[in-house]
Amino acid sequence: MYALVTGASRGIGRAISLRLAQRGYDLLLVARSEDQLTTLAQEVAQKHKRQARVLALDLAAPGAADTVANWATQQTDQLAILVNNAGYGLWGRFEQLRLAEQQNMLQLNMNLPVALTHALLPALHKAPKAYILNVSSTAAYQAVPSLSLYAASKAFLLSFSRGLRYELKSSNVSVTCLCPGATTTAFADRAGMGAELQATANKVSMTPEAVAEAAVNSLLAGEAEIIPGVLNKVSAGLTSVVPKGIVEKIAAGIYEKYL
Ligand SMILES: NC(=O)c1ccc[n+]([C@@H]2O[C@H](COP(=O)([O-])OP(=O)(O)OC[C@H]3O[C@@H](n4cnc5c(N)ncnc54)[C@H](OP(=O)(O)O)[C@@H]3O)[C@@H](O)[C@H]2O)c1
Repeated sequence: MYALVTGASRGIGRAISLRLAQRGYDLLLVARSEDQLTTLAQEVAQKHKRQARVLALDLAAPGAADTVANWATQQTDQLAILVNNAGYGLWGRFEQLRLAEQQNMLQLNMNLPVALTHALLPALHKAPKAYILNVSSTAAYQAVPSLSLYAASKAFLLSFSRGLRYELKSSNVSVTCLCPGATTTAFADRAGMGAELQATANKVSMTPEAVAEAAVNSLLAGEAEIIPGVLNKVSAGLTSVVPKGIVEKIAAGIYEKYL
């Protein structure tokens, strides 16, 4: 059976791909960096004796979801897993960040997983048991000043995942939402976070491998939502009991401080 992973070239997507190969899945890997995808495909073949095919594509470009879905269905009629992982954040005040750049982020973080899920559900329904993993964030549980639109995009993905999971509960497709906290990847650099903020985040960061292990275990166990790491579970839990204004003040104290 095959698993399709978006944003597989590095970070959490790469670690999830390796973990799925270890669990016996062949892979369809998508991101822009062809060299990194090819290197990963070679590692998958050598370490885990699984096949990996790659597609280098800008997933925020118009029509990307259809291109990926057509490619995937040409590669295999045995698709069993879709991992909607590709995504990024933009750090800064909404007013000061370029609108076009923010809209590109929304396209990748929200519209792409929606369109890809819609296009690939018919293929997933053909598998005896199928799984969708949507990679959200602990930012989904609260507003985060200076990451306002990013947090909103991840809240969207969490809500979409839970609703879709319920709609599909009598079918063969299980939907899981992964909500990691800070993880040591290129995320902070891509978001434009400064060195001081990155140093603060690094103190509590998990490795992508630890996140992927928790994610794949929960996915294949059919769980609804997974927050890897005790600290992340506790802080996400607190957002449901502490007044929103206080939660936002604490988040602003961490993220706005270095703007
Ligand atoms: N790291 C964290 O602290 C953290 C915490 C919570 C949630 N997350 C979420 O985890 C997911 C993975 O992020 P990461 O931390 O692993 O960051 P990362 O190291 O920057 O990886 C992002 C992945 O997405 C791909 N990607 C980005 N833009 C793309 C585009 N336009 N078209 C195709 N692929 C694209 C990148 O590949 P190319 O550049 O090769 O295209 C890369 O494979 C994201 O959804 C992120 O929001 C991360």
